[in-house]
Amino acid sequence: MKRIKTIAELRAALAAWREAGDSIALVPTMGNLHAGHLELVTLAQEHAEHTVVSVFVNPTQFGPAEDFAAYPRTPETDARRLRRAKAAILFEPSVEEMYGNGVEAATRVMVPGLSDQLCGASRPGHFVGVTSVVNRLLNICGPGVAVFGQKDYQQLVILQRMVSDLHLPVKLLAGATARDERGLALSSRNAYLDVSQQATAAVIYQSLEQARGKLEHGQIDIAAIEAEGLARIRAGGLEPEYFTVRQASDLAVPAVGGARLVVLAAARIAGVRLIDNVLVEVQP
Ligand code: PAF
Repeated sequence: MKRIKTIAELRAALAAWREAGDSIALVPTMGNLHAGHLELVTLAQEHAEHTVVSVFVNPTQFGPAEDFAAYPRTPETDARRLRRAKAAILFEPSVEEMYGNGVEAATRVMVPGLSDQLCGASRPGHFVGVTSVVNRLLNICGPGVAVFGQKDYQQLVILQRMVSDLHLPVKLLAGATARDERGLALSSRNAYLDVSQQATAAVIYQSLEQARGKLEHGQIDIAAIEAEGLARIRAGGLEPEYFTVRQASDLAVPAVGGARLVVLAAARIAGVRLIDNVLVEVQP
């Protein structure tokens, strides 16, 4: 595995493969890689001959009061894991390399509407940061496919919209959410919690699963399902931020009948904000 820090060097390495007609996949990450990230790498490898994994803690997607400085950075462990996973390239640019004119002056890419709700409502500017950096990474790397985790479901929908709106020649793939034995979605931020807090946090997934079961069994009172989800998370000892049933395709409030659904939740425990979601398979 090559470790590359500059855009020029990455482009040179990819040009040789592209000339040979080989396909390239990109897995964008912020590092501190866990089993869930490695599953995304495996998915990428099933779809392309060479997989590039980027590790970049992107300053533009953190709010002023958020954990950018404290965000866990583990470059050597990440490199070891990626080498073992047989990634072709680890791209680890600096902030200056990604935002040559400075972070404040950087050109932004924005998906309006979708970016302002759910997580975007409590994290203003977060998704503009995400789309701005992912657009850059796609332009730098030019992959045929790019892989993202389903855990960040809203991010996925926003990125799909960006790719479609900007006619970017890339296919986005979603990797299933990896979970611990209690169901807690794997996340770098779980490292901020001790073992008993992690066990408590599994109530998020349990409440999502309960909602999914009800929807799949034909319960249509969505307001009641959302209220129960919020109550269950609160009773479990977390502070819920939202618990909501939406259309899977565009996060709109479900229309009557037929649409594929997703249940999404965000909650805080010990000051740590966690998110999760489940897709619902309602029979037509
Ligand atoms: O999901 C993440 O880790 C980040 O939001 C991403 C897509 C790597 C952009 O910084």
